[in-house]
Amino acid sequence: MSDADAQKRAAGEAAAALVRAGMVVGLGTGSTAAWFVRALAALKLDIVGVPTSQATADLAASLGIRLGELGETKGIDLTVDGADEIGPGLSLIKGGGAALLREKLVWEASRSCVVIADAAKSVEALGKFPLPIEVVAFGHKTTANRICDALAECDLDIVPILRRKAGEPVRTDGGNLIYDAHCGRIEEPAALAAALKSVTGVVDHGLFLDLADRALIGTPDGVVELEP
Ligand code: 5RP
Repeated sequence: MSDADAQKRAAGEAAAALVRAGMVVGLGTGSTAAWFVRALAALKLDIVGVPTSQATADLAASLGIRLGELGETKGIDLTVDGADEIGPGLSLIKGGGAALLREKLVWEASRSCVVIADAAKSVEALGKFPLPIEVVAFGHKTTANRICDALAECDLDIVPILRRKAGEPVRTDGGNLIYDAHCGRIEEPAALAAALKSVTGVVDHGLFLDLADRALIGTPDGVVELEP
């Protein structure tokens, strides 16, 4: 196992130790969240998991975790999920796995959110990781032009790139498309988040601001806990 994987695993296991029987638990998406789901399943607690993607639903179901749907459980006590970047105040970039919309829906419905990651995800400023922006497929090139204008308003003169896999546009679980904006450095994440949300056709973006209550970061010296 690589060092990064060992750190992801340690963070996932530390987060699983926060779960108690009877909880409704939001299950994140990605390789770090998968370590959490595996560790959680191994505890064999009586919990209900609310998955943030079909991939996570499949993994959790295969491990025997009982699943519920967002809005059909008695709220969500705790959500545990990974991130692509963790910046100041636990501001995050998420969506590298194209699950940002369902993730944000579940995070926002949760009483508490814990982000788990390997040490490489901690950054001094957000933006080196391309910011994912989820858009509806209809008229997406026009939407992309309007995203350019919104980025320019925030002093980011960049053109977002349609995400592809094996040459084909990536589709989210909801059938939408993802554009990635290579911002470099995001000086004002809140202003950028608002500008992007104001574009018709943008469903959501990967900036998760004021949502994480705690971070558990795997490091070579063990798991470090951070608060906003
Ligand atoms: C998926 C996400 C993931 O949490 C993020 O991409 C981190 O993934 P990994 O744990 O594999 O590094 O936001 O949409």
